[in-house]
Amino acid sequence: MKGKSSSPVEASGRSYEDQASQPVGWVERSETHQCGQSGENDGFCCALPILQNPDGPNPTNLTAPLQAELADIAAADLTRRRRILASPCRRAVIVGGQEKINFASNDYLGLAANADIAGALADGARRWGAGSGASHLVSGHFAPHEQLENELAAFTGFARALTFATGYLANLAVTPTFAQRGAAIFADKLNHASLIDAMQLAKAGGAAVRRYPHTDMAALERQLAASAAAAKIIVSDSVFSMDGDLAPLPQLLRLAEQFDAWLVIDDAHGFGVLGPQGRGSLAHFGLPAAERILLMGTLGKAAGVGGAFVAGSATAIEYLRQKGRSYIFTTAAPPALACALSRSLRHIEEGEPLRQRLFAHIARLRDAAADLPWPLLPSATAIQPLIIGDNTAAVALSAALWERGLWVPAIRPPTVPAGTARLRLSLSAAHTEEDMGRLLAALRELANLNE
Ligand SMILES: Cc1ncc(COP(=O)(O)O)c(C=O)c1O
Repeated sequence: MKGKSSSPVEASGRSYEDQASQPVGWVERSETHQCGQSGENDGFCCALPILQNPDGPNPTNLTAPLQAELADIAAADLTRRRRILASPCRRAVIVGGQEKINFASNDYLGLAANADIAGALADGARRWGAGSGASHLVSGHFAPHEQLENELAAFTGFARALTFATGYLANLAVTPTFAQRGAAIFADKLNHASLIDAMQLAKAGGAAVRRYPHTDMAALERQLAASAAAAKIIVSDSVFSMDGDLAPLPQLLRLAEQFDAWLVIDDAHGFGVLGPQGRGSLAHFGLPAAERILLMGTLGKAAGVGGAFVAGSATAIEYLRQKGRSYIFTTAAPPALACALSRSLRHIEEGEPLRQRLFAHIARLRDAAADLPWPLLPSATAIQPLIIGDNTAAVALSAALWERGLWVPAIRPPTVPAGTARLRLSLSAAHTEEDMGRLLAALRELANLNE
């Protein structure tokens, strides 16, 4: 917690500009928002004051249950915290004044701080300004957006692509739009939260929902065979974000064909990493850009910038553009981002040396981890989860690595099933041999201490 100082603004850690936006007449309550109560210089965000209107009703009735729930979360060691980075997303970052090797980002190719891509972003901002000014369908669709969509369609092999401001929004658009009343959705149990939320939205619109055990194709086939739904939609991550394993895409496509279903694939962690030229998971398996596939890819992970796209047949993408609510009712991403992404796409396409370095790191980690007491999940991708089991033990191990200059996040329930808390090691082409050596040495040392 920050030390006391004479000025309430200094004490709260906020600037005078922030203070100016405080509603006139509101006062700071004595307690603070509990986002970071730890030491002086540990890089967590500072405690913010809670504001209250002295003339308004006492909000305790509203906040007391929230405080109780927050206390329960803290007691279960499940409080989520943000660390503040004081340097760009690179192999090593500055947090709380210290350098940490970053095994916590999704910047698999090391493009997030690529100078050429950052230059394209800056040039794009000079040419097109800071913002888009409106949603795509009103007046916010610019030439760089159009160019990026054409490039993404060509890159993935689909007839057309539609860009979104985030992957979350892209997923929220796809399943509910294609699942009309009477449709049935078949979803892998370990799908990403954004796909689950999309499914809930479709359910609220009248679709039926079935979830099959993780990658269990026999169970999926039984569910499909038992369904009399007018339209069927199979939904799956391609690379599972907390496990790193691959969905059996060839079998998924075969079942989609057999039961005449749409196949929605979330390639957030495959795009840029897998397949020839980083064209993604479908290319990795040598699968065609079939008309029944709706391929979502995110652009804030391997592509290093931000945003997402959905690629598909001309009809499917036109339908999504006309009907996808989270496409229609939101401001378009700044056109400068599209400029940066077009440049990033070139780096991805020519990024074979980056992918080779990444896959060499993956092989080295998996070799070395055979001697560790904690199992690595069977993943051939940049996401390498080391299963610890107990929440507190996972957090302690993450903290011990942090003390040794290594940033490896502990992932706990509800993000992963109870009893499977893990260290999610995220590898990048940006890491050096020395970074990998430090990580492996620290894991061995902690394993010995653990014995
Ligand atoms: C599998 C998966 N899908 C979708 C998303 C959402 O993408 P975005 O971060 O662009 O909103 C993520 C991001 O964490 C993800 O891991």
